[in-house]
Amino acid sequence: MLLEFALQKPREWLLAHDTDPLTPQIAAKFLTLAAQRRQGVPMAHLIGWREFMGHRFEVTASVLIPRPETELLVEVALASLAGLSTPAVLDMGTGSGIVAISLALARTDARVTATDLSVEALSVAQRNAQALSAHIQWWQGSWFEALPSEGKFQVIVSNPPYIAAHDEHLQQGDLRFEPSQALTDGANGLSALEKIISGAGLRLLQGGSLWLEHGYDQAEAVSGMLTAAGFANVQTHADLANLPRVTGGVWA
Ligand SMILES: C[S@@+](CC[C@H](N)C(=O)[O-])C[C@H]1O[C@@H](n2cnc3c(N)ncnc32)[C@H](O)[C@@H]1O
Repeated sequence: MLLEFALQKPREWLLAHDTDPLTPQIAAKFLTLAAQRRQGVPMAHLIGWREFMGHRFEVTASVLIPRPETELLVEVALASLAGLSTPAVLDMGTGSGIVAISLALARTDARVTATDLSVEALSVAQRNAQALSAHIQWWQGSWFEALPSEGKFQVIVSNPPYIAAHDEHLQQGDLRFEPSQALTDGANGLSALEKIISGAGLRLLQGGSLWLEHGYDQAEAVSGMLTAAGFANVQTHADLANLPRVTGGVWA
């Protein structure tokens, strides 16, 4: 992938030209990239993109690198939207925009709104939406405070920062290079989830649903918070590794 990126050629070209010599400039560029990768710089930062739900998304150091697990959140949200015409959908903490944009592309009749606290993240998300011709309404600010005073939704989704501040994984792998605000709530990992759950009732239409991505060990806590906030039909979905990763419920 690094050689493809250095040459700006697809894999098929590389296979067909496997004995071509590299120019000194390309060889130097490739060696620099390989050295950065050995130092741990994430592949998505080196090549500037990551695929998600079959679409290519620009990724910078200002956003979370899209994770395959988050495709589950999109799939669960799409299932909730089945049978609804021109539904209003909200993605909170949109980062690079992968969830909002994937939903908007899969459901072109949906009216999709997305928020983030980070101005830089919203710029990346807007560029991704433009490149993929997705129509989204963007708002900057903290959780529900970002939204205008009026407006309710049929489905709210979020993949908020849910890693506890003391979690040692924050000092490992790709996480060292991602924005701390995208990874941790700076507390026990549940505070952003709790804020979203406690505010969602005021922003959901009756019968609407809220779906949250969370850590593999947070399903019970999230289910408890949803039930305590008045949500019905609280359910958890497992990812491809069979870990409980998305929990939500219906606002009755
Ligand atoms: C785990 S990342 C998810 C990004 C993207 N939705 C994804 O799934 O790749 C969490 C996002 O929440 C945003 N965020 C953190 N605190 C926030 C707040 N108080 N209000 C709104 N967004 C916030 C971060 O900037 C980050 O983009």
